[in-house]
Amino acid sequence: MRQPNDLSAFWLPFTPNRHFKTAPRMLTRADGMYYYDGTGRALLDACAGLWCVNAGHGRKEIAEAIARSARELDYAPNFQFAHPQAFTLAQRIAALAPEGLEHVFFVNSGSEACDAALKVARAYFQKIGQGSRFQLIGREKGYHGVTFAGISTGGIGNNRKPYGPLLPGTDDHLPLPYGASMRFTRGEPEQGADYADSLEALVALHGAETIAAVIVEPMAGSGGVFASPKHYLKRLRALCDRHGILLIFDEVITAFGRLGYGFAAERYKVTPDIITFAKGVSNGAVPMGGIVVSNKIHDAFMGGADHQIELFHGHTYSAHPLACAAALATLDIYRDEDLFARARKLEPVLEEAVHELRSAPFVLDIRNVGLAAAIELESDPAAPGRRGYEVILRAFWDEDLVVRVSGDTIALSPPLIAPEADLSHIAEKVRRILKTLS
Ligand SMILES: Cc1ncc(COP(=O)(O)O)c(C=O)c1O
Repeated sequence: MRQPNDLSAFWLPFTPNRHFKTAPRMLTRADGMYYYDGTGRALLDACAGLWCVNAGHGRKEIAEAIARSARELDYAPNFQFAHPQAFTLAQRIAALAPEGLEHVFFVNSGSEACDAALKVARAYFQKIGQGSRFQLIGREKGYHGVTFAGISTGGIGNNRKPYGPLLPGTDDHLPLPYGASMRFTRGEPEQGADYADSLEALVALHGAETIAAVIVEPMAGSGGVFASPKHYLKRLRALCDRHGILLIFDEVITAFGRLGYGFAAERYKVTPDIITFAKGVSNGAVPMGGIVVSNKIHDAFMGGADHQIELFHGHTYSAHPLACAAALATLDIYRDEDLFARARKLEPVLEEAVHELRSAPFVLDIRNVGLAAAIELESDPAAPGRRGYEVILRAFWDEDLVVRVSGDTIALSPPLIAPEADLSHIAEKVRRILKTLS
């Protein structure tokens, strides 16, 4: 791949641009567990891209499906027309979802999926004559993408603070179900289900009749890999039921095997009303996202005259033929290689590997669930985020490793195809990096 001779035009997202451009970390090729830079150096991918390349890089079946689709049907609108693969894919995704969630609405990213879920929740209550329900409750440290609805229900300060008044009706957030006593928990914490009860306080404050939905990630990912405590999601479900509030699981990360199942809803045996997905659905190869919606919600929209549009929402590229082709090929791989089960098998291996870092310098906490883990570092009080950034740099330049950080927390989410030895290699590399930090 030719290297560019001018780096100024591209404004990188979520990146310190000026420093990046002093020594750009270019990725030019990918295969299996590895990225390659322009010199041909292999870098172990500890994060499945951005939590999305669950079946590993360079999958030929996916590439071929995309190429076939590009030749056969480059583009088709899904407003008033459609193409067959969108229906097949919707059916395949719905089959992985809990019973009673049988309808899929496609978008192009996780952010758009969250936006669609929140809009559908509000519109549903309008449809059923409960338009007073408009409040959308998020959670501290929640990440629901970068639209105004996403940052408003999200709970990450830096993503919200620069953007002025946020979406009305999104002021309240549940607390993150986590406390210092839960440090170094393996998997789901035993304690903490009662954090869900804080929804009662919000109901008491506003009245249930004003609240449309609660949106949570079954595992807070971008906020720093926080597993749901045991029984927490069940308790939240029960409270939502008691007050007629919809429960949205943001499964943009947790779906398609990251927690060992098609959807985390299956792991926790909790059925939400809406599930968002993106990332792993197409193995990251073509942007795609969507929501799976309960029959109850879907059916509420299906009234009115024949010519009337039921939901005024959608994108030019909703259910793009190339994305559908990529997703169908991806789902075939997950099924044929039994990759969700493989993630369950790898979970204790990753757990063991990361918890051995407990004695490494600056380690404040280690958390893991499914095939995801976080190593939270003590922040430099004078420069929060500095250690995390140094981890990225040292990983890339010295350890041939691609990792992701959120502030001073290192997040690991390897592809589900990872050989067991790679999980130990990742942890060894992280240990060496931590030893160099100041
Ligand atoms: C839980 C969750 N929701 C939404 C998003 C936003 O997805 P995207 O970056 O595709 O817009 C992310 C991205 O990391 C996510 O982790």
